[in-house]
Amino acid sequence: MILGATGLLGKALMSEWSRDEVVGLGSRDVDIRDADKVYEVVAKASPGWIVLAAAYTNVDECESHPDLAFGVNRDGAVNVAKAAKRTGAKLLFLSSDYVFDGKKSSPYEAGDARNPQSVYGRSKAEAEIRLLEVLPECCIARTSWLFGTGGKCFPDTILKLAATRPALDVVNDQRGCPTYSVDLARAIIELCRKSASGIAHITNSGDCSWFEFAREIVKGTGLATEVRPVSSQQMARPAPRPAYSVFSPKSLQQYGIAMPAWQDALKRYLQERKN
Ligand SMILES: NC(=O)c1ccc[n+]([C@@H]2O[C@H](COP(=O)([O-])OP(=O)(O)OC[C@H]3O[C@@H](n4cnc5c(N)ncnc54)[C@H](OP(=O)(O)O)[C@@H]3O)[C@@H](O)[C@H]2O)c1
Repeated sequence: MILGATGLLGKALMSEWSRDEVVGLGSRDVDIRDADKVYEVVAKASPGWIVLAAAYTNVDECESHPDLAFGVNRDGAVNVAKAAKRTGAKLLFLSSDYVFDGKKSSPYEAGDARNPQSVYGRSKAEAEIRLLEVLPECCIARTSWLFGTGGKCFPDTILKLAATRPALDVVNDQRGCPTYSVDLARAIIELCRKSASGIAHITNSGDCSWFEFAREIVKGTGLATEVRPVSSQQMARPAPRPAYSVFSPKSLQQYGIAMPAWQDALKRYLQERKN
């Protein structure tokens, strides 16, 4: 069962998951804040695995809507974990690099201490802690900088802006790992098939700044738009972003899963976008 099947990752999971019977649900089918309804749909479908990709993901809006952020991202996730526990389903929960403060200068390991700086990050960090209490054997898959053709994402925004502007200013002092929804979906499916439990970090391999990512996106389409590096201070946003959120691949490598480089993933995304 995929909860959040109508989202960016959910759509990739729905198209990549073969061999097994898959039930995909969006918020119209079940609001995860409704514990009774969550139990009802889970008990009815009786899935072997639940992948919980449903979340309130607008990081900036979370700052002004903390009730919604905690209601969906933490309390909703706990409802799903309790339903999984009652029905015997296994659970894989999607979490985020925002659980970290971004103050490290070497890649984050799965066991590094959480220290979220935003409402969204706190809602995900508290969800992780509660889920490990309710269902200690669950799998927490943290990802970052998600992009894909199934919804709004950074490369899509850059391409739309680049088509109409001669130059773009993009922050160069935040470093992370882009993640293609298709590659993330494949890794998640693999983790479920391998009965994974505990925390895993899943991103494409390599890292970059948003500026470097944007430059590669524009280059990949042959547009002449100039991409200029700026600082986060020049582009202030309501929610603070981790300055450094590069993930170590070790937690994933223990399952024998290797992720393609983000540059390769970007090429495939641009091709998929054209089709
Ligand atoms: N995007 C990123 O860069 C990023 C980075 C790190 C981690 N993540 C995590 O990865 C997961 C997938 O992200 P995404 O970008 O694919 O998300 P998304 O495109 O924003 O999709 C969110 C999904 O959650 C569903 N949803 C929202 N509120 C709900 C509720 N109250 N009850 C039930 N379903 C609800 C939506 O359903 P409807 O569309 O039907 O309303 C949609 O299917 C999330 O857990 C997110 O926190 C994302």
